[in-house]
Amino acid sequence: MVRYISAFIVLLPAVVASITSPIKLLPRDVAQVKADLADLSTKIDTMDAALTAYPTTGNLIQALAIHNDAVAVASSLTKATSDVTSTGPVSDSDSADILNILQGKVPTIQRTLVTIVDKKSGFTSLPIGGIPALIKQDLIWLDGNTTALSNALIKNAPASLLPNATALKNTVESAFDTAIAAYS
Ligand SMILES: *[C@@H]1O[C@H](CO)[C@@H](O)[C@H](O)[C@H]1NC(C)=O
Ligand SMILES: *[C@@H]1O[C@H](CO)[C@@H](O)[C@H](O)[C@H]1NC(C)=O
Repeated sequence: MVRYISAFIVLLPAVVASITSPIKLLPRDVAQVKADLADLSTKIDTMDAALTAYPTTGNLIQALAIHNDAVAVASSLTKATSDVTSTGPVSDSDSADILNILQGKVPTIQRTLVTIVDKKSGFTSLPIGGIPALIKQDLIWLDGNTTALSNALIKNAPASLLPNATALKNTVESAFDTAIAAYS
């Protein structure tokens, strides 16, 4: 055990160096953006499933897990936004691929945002207060993080796909607006 620990301490600076330095040099590219979107898709599915399973009678543990799922989606959105921005303008075919991935996710995003409203009584009825306010805050953050990703995609989309990127943004924002209004 001691030997493992000391080996770990010896190796640690090398590991940290290899984590920090090359990443700055690696170009962020479309493959990275697609990997980010795959991660985002998984995180959205997790939140969608947790909301579907959430009882309208309330459950504090599950409610806090949903909050954690929302935080995970926010962080995945932020990572994708950062990589879309550093990738810069993309080709027609790459942009079409990226938009198609996200377009395919829209029904799940819409269902998640409808379900969070359907389950509101399960958050308001909890014995401790503050959870509906937490859910509302999560929605506002997620809305902001989604807008940031949409804006980055619009900025880097070819002119031919600008209407698609804008339509995608408007569709998702409208679903957020409805959900946030239900908690306001
Ligand atoms: C999401 O957006 C909120 C509000 O704009 C911001 O404070 C937060 O840092 C973002 N989340 C992440 C994980 O970056
Ligand atoms: C862009 O939008 C047009 C019009 O709705 C549609 O026909 C086309 O398939 C979309 N392209 C992509 C890549 O989604």
